[in-house]
Amino acid sequence: MIRVDLRSDTVSQPSPEMRKAMYEAELGDDVYGDDPTTNALEAKAAEMLGKEAAVIVTSGTQSNLVALLAQAGRGDTVLLGTKSHILNAEAGGTSALGGIVLMPIQNDERGLLDPDVIKLAAAPRDHHKAPVTVLCVENTQNAAGGTALSPEEIKVMADAGRQHGLRVHMDGARIFNAAVALETPASELAADADTVGFCLSKGLACPIGSVLCGDADVIQEARRWRKMLGGAMRQVGVIAAAGVVALDTMIDRMVDDHANARKLAVALAEMPGIDIDLTTVETNIVRFSVPAHTGMEIAGRLKEEGVYINGGDSDLRFVPHYGIDSEDVDIAINAMNKVMAEVPVER
Ligand SMILES: Cc1ncc(COP(=O)(O)O)c(C=O)c1O
Repeated sequence: MIRVDLRSDTVSQPSPEMRKAMYEAELGDDVYGDDPTTNALEAKAAEMLGKEAAVIVTSGTQSNLVALLAQAGRGDTVLLGTKSHILNAEAGGTSALGGIVLMPIQNDERGLLDPDVIKLAAAPRDHHKAPVTVLCVENTQNAAGGTALSPEEIKVMADAGRQHGLRVHMDGARIFNAAVALETPASELAADADTVGFCLSKGLACPIGSVLCGDADVIQEARRWRKMLGGAMRQVGVIAAAGVVALDTMIDRMVDDHANARKLAVALAEMPGIDIDLTTVETNIVRFSVPAHTGMEIAGRLKEEGVYINGGDSDLRFVPHYGIDSEDVDIAINAMNKVMAEVPVER
């Protein structure tokens, strides 16, 4: 039985207020552009991200996909980090569907990309090279432990790309976590990006959806790709309604998720056999490893205690979210203590 589910913030459930808004949402056919609730969400999202326009899409993956399809042509190269979600966890969609070449460059510990490496990779050469047209950055940077990149850090990367005319796409699946952690408006974090996508269904606790924001022309082009991918939806106001409520009620409360993440991280750091870098725990993601075991082994043991987390070959991840309170965090810490007392801490 699941007692505490910390696998991801994607498992969060909509609030009663969101469910009510979904039930009562005024609807139209969004493919004709006349779903008022969707139009309201898109206008609100565009304003909050400081962009001209926005389009609702089915998922974070689709948001990244339509953003890149709209800005990179077949045979173009997109630069992105070795730790990026687009590279590692989106099924190669940009290459399969858009004929786009993905060129990974090393992320540092916090998820930053070296501007000199960006410039070198983006520099135009002769006809041997596929033209590099887009740079992707991710904020927060999931695989680096949910690090929140500041506007200054993003600017350094974006400026390096712009020197060679690159457009910039930000995978801002969790941009509001970054905004809360840095006490900086999301629009400032996205100021150097041409397009920015954020997820409704992660820390914002909506059941479905993401929103891609950018200038009017690029969003128009993204709509065409969304249609081609079968992602244009009809009375999508039922989903957008939750999004509108989430943008009003779910951002400020993320401080609780961040505090819960910190509490978990500090407790883990005290347990023998655990490797964790507390400096990377800036938002709601807690990444760590148990060097003597695979992540899957530890996650499997923890599951027997009713605590669900994600574990891979080495890494493990706790992600507090709406619906997880400090009592749940205590249950998770106690379960983790029990597991660590039972497994050998050295190989
Ligand atoms: C940074 C990042 N980008 C994109 C996505 C994709 O979102 P979705 O699962 O909605 O496709 C995720 C999902 O976890 C993510 O962490």
